[in-house]
Amino acid sequence: MTTTTALGCQYRPQHHYTADRNWLNDPNGLVYANGTYHLFYQHNPSGNGWGNMSWGHATSADLLHWDEQPVAIACDDQEAIFSGSAVLDGANTSGFGTPDNPPLVAIYTSAYSPASPLSGRQAQSLAYSTDNGATWIKHAGNPVLDRGSADFRDPKVFWYDGAAGSYWVMVAVEAMDREAVLYKSADLKAWEYLSTFGPANATGGVWECPDLFELPVDGNPGNTKWVLVVNLNPGGIAGGSAGQYFLGTFDGVAFVSETTVTEGLQKDESRMAEYGWLDWGRDYYAAVSFSNAPDGRRLMIGWMNNWEYGALTPTDGWRGAMSLVREVRLAVRGGRVVPMQTALDPFESVGAGRNLGASPYSEAARPLPAGTHWIPAEASGDVLRIDAEFEPGAAGEVGLLLRASGAERTVLAYRCATGVLSLDRTASGNTDFHESFASLESVPVPLENGRLRLRIFLDRCSVEVFAQDGLATITDQVFPAESSTQVGLFADRDGGRLVSLAIVGGG
Ligand code: FRU
Repeated sequence: MTTTTALGCQYRPQHHYTADRNWLNDPNGLVYANGTYHLFYQHNPSGNGWGNMSWGHATSADLLHWDEQPVAIACDDQEAIFSGSAVLDGANTSGFGTPDNPPLVAIYTSAYSPASPLSGRQAQSLAYSTDNGATWIKHAGNPVLDRGSADFRDPKVFWYDGAAGSYWVMVAVEAMDREAVLYKSADLKAWEYLSTFGPANATGGVWECPDLFELPVDGNPGNTKWVLVVNLNPGGIAGGSAGQYFLGTFDGVAFVSETTVTEGLQKDESRMAEYGWLDWGRDYYAAVSFSNAPDGRRLMIGWMNNWEYGALTPTDGWRGAMSLVREVRLAVRGGRVVPMQTALDPFESVGAGRNLGASPYSEAARPLPAGTHWIPAEASGDVLRIDAEFEPGAAGEVGLLLRASGAERTVLAYRCATGVLSLDRTASGNTDFHESFASLESVPVPLENGRLRLRIFLDRCSVEVFAQDGLATITDQVFPAESSTQVGLFADRDGGRLVSLAIVGGG
């Protein structure tokens, strides 16, 4: 049980990155170099709301513990520093470093202020560091890519090495047009147009923060697919901001989607569930992946918030958290290639959490009678990892009550008749700060051998659910009373079974 009372402390997550002070939104410039993972992010260094956009900075050796660093790239009277990416320019193609000391290069969006001659435009610019990311210098030739557009932003750059050659590729968005536009470059400074993808699938909001990467299917390097991530706001599956993905091919010039359901700008609400969603909750946005991660791992972070109410979440002194780091793999499930996401587990790291010395609470297989079964207090808490496996059998609905006390609870329920998993935060605690916050999120999840496996992370102001080993995920913020720490199991009628339950972090 925590003893903190101030609003900022009550909700400050233990395992999710927050800026020590003030506002953050999108993760930016995720890059691994020389043993360090860098997390830059959209940050207001002097306020708890969006503004003065600059790149904040944090570093980590293990992706679980982050150390905040000084602001890396600050806004000035000419430009705000919007989202983008960073690369280790190992061959010093940019000439910003030396062959012996290759530079880190950030590719960001200059959002020009009224004081700038480029006022109103968004164009792509560079900054570089030759001291492992400690200090950054803006390139004198900025911007390096200007289409004269007011909504051209969020460049993600990667090194392409394939049949078409070897060069840098940038994917950025024409946000209003719902287009992902691709460019190539030999030196990160001169960019040549390649192709445009979109609009397609979800287009109910602007397209932002794209990503493009190749992954093996079921670990087979001879069988790969390219994943195009496009975040959109609003128009997400659960309302407001969300991330969608397309799977397909990329030949060094154009991305060709194999998962397009609808083309063009028409909105077809009835097809929404057929599109590819990175997460079915309300609070996983602007998700992008690390560049240069070791062992070819594809590691993503999202902003655990939603533009619909993100400015109003009830925290003092800080606002906005990152998701846990997720590893994304492709696998064949139900005859289709799908992304599987697992969270890097903060409870696996010795000393990372509270009470890690204590053995986990567990329950063996047993029938799950109708009603609610409360888990003992020593396994309750506001920072928990819960692994639960159900065999719903003849029960109509099974699930968990989370962050509960009295009438307050966040309900994770599986309805057998529909095969839908839902997370209901309508009674989760403080929901009053925005009219749309009290919501219920749902995702179709097929049982596997009659079973549903759930991994749930609670971290003071969040619930992250990974179902069927990461086949479907739901990420939601919650703002319960500090005393709402109970965990319960429930079934609506007899006939179901609990296969296993393990809870870490409680007490
Ligand atoms: C996405 C976004 C980006 C933009 C940044 C500004 O959340 O709107 O498109 O670069 O935030 O902070």
